[in-house]
Amino acid sequence: GKGGYAFYMEKEIHEQPDAIKDTVAPHIVDGKTSFEAEGIPNSFFRENQNIVVIACGTAMHAGLIGQQLFHTLANIHTDVAVASEFTYTNPVIKPGTLVIAVSQSGETVDTIEAIKYAKKKGAKVLSIVNVKGSTISDISDYCIYTHAGPEIAVASTKAYTSQLTVFYLLAIHAARLNGLVSEEESSKFLNELQRVPEVIGQILEKKEFVKKMTSKFLLSENAFMIGRGLDYSLLLEGSLKLKEISYVHSEAYASGELKHGTIALITDGIPVVALVTQSALASKEYSNIREVQSRGASMILITRESLYKDMNIPEDDTFILPEMDDMFMPFPAAVVMQLIAYYTSYTKGFDVDKPRNLAKVVTVE
Ligand code: M6R
Repeated sequence: GKGGYAFYMEKEIHEQPDAIKDTVAPHIVDGKTSFEAEGIPNSFFRENQNIVVIACGTAMHAGLIGQQLFHTLANIHTDVAVASEFTYTNPVIKPGTLVIAVSQSGETVDTIEAIKYAKKKGAKVLSIVNVKGSTISDISDYCIYTHAGPEIAVASTKAYTSQLTVFYLLAIHAARLNGLVSEEESSKFLNELQRVPEVIGQILEKKEFVKKMTSKFLLSENAFMIGRGLDYSLLLEGSLKLKEISYVHSEAYASGELKHGTIALITDGIPVVALVTQSALASKEYSNIREVQSRGASMILITRESLYKDMNIPEDDTFILPEMDDMFMPFPAAVVMQLIAYYTSYTKGFDVDKPRNLAKVVTVE
């Protein structure tokens, strides 16, 4: 059952602290990252210096965050491919190319076909899957399970943050074994990862505030979301959530790219969500916010206390995220974006769990 919540999606949003805890637990052994149980040797990320993530939808968006983690922490070149396009692009697969396939269901046909193609070309396949014993886990060389439990709502929430969790663990692991971060730094990162469940709990306590803030979307058929770096990747997912369950046409834009065309669409009253969590990028983001404000955008700001000053956006339109190390900010931000989509759909009276024209598992190409 829905455990007292109006929809499975709301229940699953609340299950994230446990999902993340359960996904982390098997991979910290004696205070260190471990993937021994999956048979992944310690030399793995020395031998595989080229990663291609293949996935669809939300799982692909998790891969975009994973890409930045592999780059930042482990210095491993990583591409992200939409599974349905992968086979059409003649992807370059050389010895030492590792495919990471990401899937909640483990049954998405586009992803299965891409895996088969990559294997034929000689790639090793590591999958990140939620459903035990599914096709994708079967056909992969290695499988790391997310422990999100059954996800019923069509809109993916806890599977996404659990997939992110695995990417953090893998990137920290690779960086540590390749000598790019010290044991001390890596345990600092692991401590931060283990704080995520509690931090998500703090967001959930403020859900009524998100509900109020969300009213901006109700009258609009269009919305934009702007951010840089990890914030941009996260907004691609936030935007998909809003589209799929509330039917608001929403576009996530890399803030710097707006002025290359899309800013023509920013007119009076259009809702714009700005996500600003990365300290090093904040000052550039301020000027992008000014640009859209001066064209009359109706702003929602999601940021952190340390970056909020000078933003010039009223408190009522601002969600202040708890402070974490910059690299971990996608977690609390993800939950706010999920709540925004949830409340928009809920308040409009839609069937949140079963959006029109969508299936939980996509078994056609
Ligand atoms: O089961 P999968 O993770 O392979 O599914 C991939 C996508 O179909 C899925 O994430 C889809 O985008 C969700 N409905 C998004 O909420």
